[in-house]
Amino acid sequence: MNHHETRIELVELAASLFQRGFSVGSAGNISVRVEGGFLMTPTNASLGRLRAERLSLLDEEFNHVDGDAPSKEVVMHRAMYQARPDTGAIVHLHSVHATALSCLADDGHPKLVPHTPYLVMRLGDNIPVVPYYKPGDPSMERDIYTASLRAKALLLGNHGSIVAGDSLVKAVDSAEELETSAQLALLLHGHATRPLSDAEIAALKA
Ligand code: 13P
Repeated sequence: MNHHETRIELVELAASLFQRGFSVGSAGNISVRVEGGFLMTPTNASLGRLRAERLSLLDEEFNHVDGDAPSKEVVMHRAMYQARPDTGAIVHLHSVHATALSCLADDGHPKLVPHTPYLVMRLGDNIPVVPYYKPGDPSMERDIYTASLRAKALLLGNHGSIVAGDSLVKAVDSAEELETSAQLALLLHGHATRPLSDAEIAALKA
């Protein structure tokens, strides 16, 4: 796929996320690896109204080389690509249920218990919560990097979520799965549930 096709795909997938309420206003950002660097959504741009020709182009060191100024979350995306070099794309959202989970007090228990197979298949069975940082604060880099070494999906304390995928489509699928799993977790909160067993989880990861 050349840059042009990737730009169109990014604009279409971002609009789809926006239209279904996974992002509002200018919240959220997306990046995708292309030959020679990365395409990224511009800062303060709505995922619902991106313009293909104005996407930010970054070089392999994440320097801005063309297009509008990139998202303020370049450092967050960079840390995840560096921890997980096979990553092809990253999606960061403030979707309601994932963000709600990210605001719960730390009670020592995981926020997302594996109840369903697709959570495990798409996101893994252990989704860390990274402490709160002001959006765009570059000092989050080490925490994002360290958490990303063990997980391809993270909850960002009092902020939202970030997921890595092999491709743009897979990263978007995973972001949707994370939001739906978070909604399910909140629906199940306070109910006696049957999480998947260790054997069932192992079979999904095999
Ligand atoms: P940008 O508009 O700079 O991408 O920031 C939006 C956001 O989601 C911050 O976390």
